[in-house]
Amino acid sequence: MRSKIVAGNWKLNKNLAETEALVTELSSKLPNTSAEVMVAPSFVNLAGAVRTLESSSIEVIAQNMHFAENGAFTGEVSADMLIGVGIKTVIIGHSERRAYFGETDEILAKKVSAALAKNLRVMFCFGEELEDRKSGNHFAVVAAQLKNALFTLKAADWSNIVLAYEPVWAIGTGETASPEQAQEMHAFIRKTITEAYDATIADNVSILYGGSVKPSNAVEIFSKPDVDGGLIGGASLVAEDFLAIVKAI
Ligand code: G3P
Repeated sequence: MRSKIVAGNWKLNKNLAETEALVTELSSKLPNTSAEVMVAPSFVNLAGAVRTLESSSIEVIAQNMHFAENGAFTGEVSADMLIGVGIKTVIIGHSERRAYFGETDEILAKKVSAALAKNLRVMFCFGEELEDRKSGNHFAVVAAQLKNALFTLKAADWSNIVLAYEPVWAIGTGETASPEQAQEMHAFIRKTITEAYDATIADNVSILYGGSVKPSNAVEIFSKPDVDGGLIGGASLVAEDFLAIVKAI
C-alpha cells in the first residue's frame, strides 16, 4: 500500500531562527494523520530543523544534492553530508533546478543513482511546461522525463522512490492544475510505470501533485484516486496553511 505524503518545499526561504520557529509550530499543532508529513528547509537549516523535530513525526528532507561522493564542487552538498545531519529523503529534479541550474535528465539520473546508492529515499520531480500542454505534448514530455532519469533503475529501487508531478505552469503561479488534469496525468504516470516495470511497482509508488496547492483546493485534488498527496511550495511557509493542507489528505 502506497503512502500518503504532504511535503513542504521551502525553497530559498527562512533563516535558522525562522526555521526552528516554524517547525516548532508545525510540530505542536500537527493534526492526527496517517500521512507522512515532511518539510524541506534550506541546507544550512537542516541540522537545526532535525534537532528541533527529533521527537516529532515530521520528517526533515533536503531540497537537492550533488551526485559526487566528494571533491572539487564548490557550494555543493553530497549524500553523505545530508545523511550526516539526519536526512533520509532528498528532492531531486525540481523544475527550478532544471531551469535555473541546468540540471538535465542525464545529471538527474546520476543524482538519483547516487542517492539510492546511499539508501536515501528520492522524491523525484518532473512536469511539463505550458507550451508542452498547449501543444498536446505534455504526456510525451512527462514520459520522457521519467524514462530518461528513472527507467534504468532496478525493480527493487522503486521502494525508495516517491514521484512529484509538478506542471511548471502551475508552480508559484496560483494557476493550479484542475483535479481532473492532475488525476489524468497521475493515471498516465502509473500506466507508464506499469508498462516499463509492472503493476505492483506502479501501484506502490506514491505520486504527489505540486503546483499552487492551497487549503482551498487541497481536498479536491487529494480526493483523486491516483493523487497520493502534495509537494507544497508557498503554502508550506505558513503554519496555518500547511496544516490545513495536511488535514486535507
Ligand atoms: O516543489 C513544490 C513547488 O514547486 C510548488 O510551489 O508555491 O506552487 O506550491 P507552489
